[in-house]
Amino acid sequence: MCGIIGYLGYREAYPILINGLKKLEYRGYDSSGIAIFYKNGYSLYKTKGKVDELEKKISSISFHNRKIIGTTGIGHTRWATHGVPNDLNAHPHVSNSNELIMIHNGIIENYHAIKIILLENGFTFKSKTDTEVLVNLIEYVKKENKISLEEAVRISLNEIIGAYSIAIVDKSHPETIIIAKLGSPLALGINEKEFFIASDPIPFINYTKNALYLKDGEMAILKKNKELDLRKIRDNHKLNPIINKLKINLKEIEKGKYRYFMLKEIYEQPKTISDTLRGRLIISNKIICIDGIELNKEIFINAKCITIVGCGSSWHAGLIGEYLLEQLARIPVEVEYASEFRYRNPIIDKNDLIIVISQSGETADTLAALKLAKKKEAFVFGICNIVGSSIARSVDAGIYTHAGPEISVASTKSFTAQITVLILLALKLAKYRSTMSEERYQFLFQELGNVPNKINDLLKIDKHVVKNISKVFYKFNNFLYLGRGINFPIALEGALKLKEISYIHSEGYPAAEMKHGPIALVDKNMPVVIIATKRGYYEKIIGNIQEIKARKGKIIAIVNEGDVQVSMMADYVIKIPEISEELSPLLTIIPLQLLAYQIAYIKGKNIDQPRNLAKSVTVE
Ligand code: G6P
Repeated sequence: MCGIIGYLGYREAYPILINGLKKLEYRGYDSSGIAIFYKNGYSLYKTKGKVDELEKKISSISFHNRKIIGTTGIGHTRWATHGVPNDLNAHPHVSNSNELIMIHNGIIENYHAIKIILLENGFTFKSKTDTEVLVNLIEYVKKENKISLEEAVRISLNEIIGAYSIAIVDKSHPETIIIAKLGSPLALGINEKEFFIASDPIPFINYTKNALYLKDGEMAILKKNKELDLRKIRDNHKLNPIINKLKINLKEIEKGKYRYFMLKEIYEQPKTISDTLRGRLIISNKIICIDGIELNKEIFINAKCITIVGCGSSWHAGLIGEYLLEQLARIPVEVEYASEFRYRNPIIDKNDLIIVISQSGETADTLAALKLAKKKEAFVFGICNIVGSSIARSVDAGIYTHAGPEISVASTKSFTAQITVLILLALKLAKYRSTMSEERYQFLFQELGNVPNKINDLLKIDKHVVKNISKVFYKFNNFLYLGRGINFPIALEGALKLKEISYIHSEGYPAAEMKHGPIALVDKNMPVVIIATKRGYYEKIIGNIQEIKARKGKIIAIVNEGDVQVSMMADYVIKIPEISEELSPLLTIIPLQLLAYQIAYIKGKNIDQPRNLAKSVTVE
């Protein structure tokens, strides 16, 4: 993870860097730092904690201090891998001679072996980081071979095993920044006479819409008032830069009237689901258009099975996809954690179909799973939110979820957008394979178009109900979430939301499995959130509720409007509109997102940036 930023041009670098780091905090926020360069020198500030802490530190030390002034600078916000979060391990890191200053996102896997060689050659280390090893390797290579910085960077990076996006400056040449990428993301904003460097384009969108996404194995030499010099790290081959025009609406990355991005993103869901459906669910002639499938129709029709791969909430969406594709399109589906899939030599070949799901399109394990599948010549289809992300660029075909930028670490609107895409996919394949009746297809088609309205209604009513329930339960230490069938993954996702942002231990379980273990934990101190909608194993769920009540567990039930039986038994009920089972996860998850939010809010947690987590997990 970690966010990196840099500026080279004619403006003051400091405000661009500090504001940019705040926009990159979703990538990590345990420590941060900035280096600003002036003629033959630099100012370096680093501190443990969030970017606000860094800003406070800088204003207390350098108020009226001219040394914070400079038009070249680099900055970093960290999610610790090597070494605890403290001032010493924070980036930027400085080489032994105090000449080279570097920031890095990624992991240098062979750092230990390199460190030993450097120690033998008299180098010393202040931090525990792999980054300090890399900046000193570059210095060593530069001095030993008496070569330029760019050549030393190139040679050193060819010795590295691992992932990186880096920016490095020689303090004697502040008119130059060298950047390079392998595995971790790196975007470059370009204007006449200035360059902006960042892990994603949001920090520089105010300044330029011209962006270049470095590809793996590329480096660029940025010089003041000179054209971009893009090269291949392996052989120094000069490349033609391909500049993209960014299309990001600034309103989408502002909190507006909401206190936290998470609440804004929960409330955006009627709109984001409409955006996901736009141009795909064609109401006028009742067809579903997905180019990535239509162009590869035979592969999808003939698929003997599908493997879905993802992490976190994207993996939960995959589990819902399994249910949908099996029920509607009658294709066997396996769902795998990307981190498990890639390390166990999976049995796949060129006739296999793999679907990778990722909001960010940058999750290291998902990207590696994708590469492995492609190496084995499988056909890889991607479901991503971020346009132009590494995963989106690497798949054979795919579909964007169009949920817009999601800033809060806990996924909400991107999760429902993924489910929406999976419903479209399952309906489309069911039609191709003639596995469902025309009547049922038409019914679900119609109902799907109505989901945004239903969520709108639900959000209006549930707000107050959920607030009251949260006031009762925020002090409890454990929660159990139960669901069956397509709503079992929703139980997992509901539990994940609560634990992520309120730090309350919570577990999701298939309701019937409760008898094989979790029931031992049920007593008056165990709130049990149970999804008990009419269209999914209602009678069986009633049996499960009886079992919990007999052990004095507290029941919070998600029921349909007009429900009588469960409502009489449960301690608290949250109502959702009637909907077919296949589409129900789009509604049942909403009160669970609100419940997690409200409990974390009452507990006074930092909802958008929960401890130890990051939005984009670019380390393995
Ligand atoms: C992190 C985020 C989760 C997300 C997961 C997978 O853990 O905090 O919200 O679900 O990564 O991320 P992806 O971008 O691949 O969907």
